[in-house]
Amino acid sequence: MSTRHFLDISDYSREDLQGFLSLAHQLKSGQVAGTPLERKSLAMIFYKSSTRTRVSFEVGMTQLGGHALFIASQTSQMGRGEPISDTAKVLSRYVDGIMIRTFDHAEVVELAEHSSIPVINGLTDLLHPCQLMADLQTVREEFGPELEGMAVAYLGDGNNMANSWLNAAAAFGLDLRLAIPEGFDPDPAILARAKEATTVTLTRDPMEAAAGARVITTDTWVSMGQEEEAQEKIGIFQPYQVTQAVMDQGSEDAIFLHCLPAYRGKEVSAEVIDGPQSRILDEAENRLHAQKAIMMELMG
Ligand code: CP
Ligand code: NVA
Repeated sequence: MSTRHFLDISDYSREDLQGFLSLAHQLKSGQVAGTPLERKSLAMIFYKSSTRTRVSFEVGMTQLGGHALFIASQTSQMGRGEPISDTAKVLSRYVDGIMIRTFDHAEVVELAEHSSIPVINGLTDLLHPCQLMADLQTVREEFGPELEGMAVAYLGDGNNMANSWLNAAAAFGLDLRLAIPEGFDPDPAILARAKEATTVTLTRDPMEAAAGARVITTDTWVSMGQEEEAQEKIGIFQPYQVTQAVMDQGSEDAIFLHCLPAYRGKEVSAEVIDGPQSRILDEAENRLHAQKAIMMELMG
């Protein structure tokens, strides 16, 4: 695989990831001149809904001098079952990069295997790596570039965000505490790998996870494609809501992050997400800068 893709944080070294984050910071602070992706095109394939991912990739391409195409699965031949390998090879003849948001992570891997251009993972059921780059950029803005040993508490579902935090923890040596109800644990292979690489605690006790944490984060209890589980989950997850009492367990300078969209009164109280410790809008903005850095490195 000679083409560089961005499918999974664990495909990259800490140095590479710090390089992306430094470039993202330079882009945000106006230190990068010109339009490095002039006349380049990014195909954006969506099998799931999106606000931030679509807008930040599309605007990012425009700002870098290129162009992005929005492709909804239902109105393309992919939604009618055209083989992923054919789609990959055909798109490789037209565009300079592909961003895809879909269900099965294996499909993104297959797309990358058959593409001669970079493929970027815009979320699968397993991972959401671009989100983590924006989250880490936000953490660096708050606490500086050294992430080793940073105490991060994630409360809620063992979903694509939990898995992505585990990969980030392994890459950067974070002290990651996960408070997740029994039966909803993250991917076992990703958990095991992160535990080998750094300090990872999996607990059923949100207060234990939050104790002394500098970053407290959560995500929706019901991810896209899992809507039928909503009723069952709400009761089970209620004790894992990020409330002010949870935030008060964290360090004095603790910040709250959420990838959005959020459900106030479910995974987070309105008081916390709309309160002074919340950095959700910087985090959302940083999708733009972090992804521009990734696109420049891969497609430039
Ligand atoms: N956080 C995130 O990926 O948001 P969207 O679903 O709006 O793209
Ligand atoms: N876990 C959520 C993240 C949304 C950005 C989902 O997959 O729906």
